Amino acid sequence: MTETRITINGSEVTTALDERTSLLDFLRDHVGLTGSKKGCNQGACGACTVLVDGERINSCLALAVQYDGRSITTVEGLERDGELHRLQAAFIEHDGFQCGYCTPGQLCSAIGMAGEAERGVPSNVTADIGERVVTLDRNELRERMSGNLCRCGAYNGIIDAIEETFVTAVAR
Ligand code: FES
Ligand code: FES
Repeated sequence: MTETRITINGSEVTTALDERTSLLDFLRDHVGLTGSKKGCNQGACGACTVLVDGERINSCLALAVQYDGRSITTVEGLERDGELHRLQAAFIEHDGFQCGYCTPGQLCSAIGMAGEAERGVPSNVTADIGERVVTLDRNELRERMSGNLCRCGAYNGIIDAIEETFVTAVAR
C-alpha cells in the first residue's frame, strides 16, 4: 500500500492505495465519483477520460499512485457554482448525446484537446506542424476526438457542440 495524495476537483484526497489500483477505479470505487465511465478498460474507447493538470488521459490505463501530488478534474468538476461549463451547455443545445455513457469522457477530452491546439500540438491532419497555434476546423476536431467513441453515433452533435464552444467562440 502507498499513501497517495491527489487533488480531485479542488479537494485533496489522501488515502493508502494498493499500487495496482487504476486511476479510474480509484475515482469511481474509492472516491465515489462515478461520472468517469468504464467502457473498455483497455484504452480503446475514451469513456474514462479525465484531465490531469489540464491534460487529458485515459484513467483506465493509469495507476492512481502515479498521480500523487497531481490535480485531477473529472466531469463532476466542470460546473462552477451550479453553472454548467459552456461545453456542457453546448452538448445539450446540439443534442451531443443519446444514452450519455460516453459524454463525461467526450467533455473532458474536448477541453484537453482545445488546450493542446492552443499550445500548437499537431494532429495527424495538421497541414503545417510548425504552427504555434493550430487552427481547429471540423477535420481537426474529428481527428483529435477520434479516441472517444460514441456507440449511439451522436458524433455530429458532439462536433457541433465542440465547434461552437472552442472554434466559433474564438472566431467571434
Ligand atoms: S474505459 Fe478507458 S479507454 Fe475505454
Ligand atoms: S451518447 Fe451513447 S455512447 Fe455516446
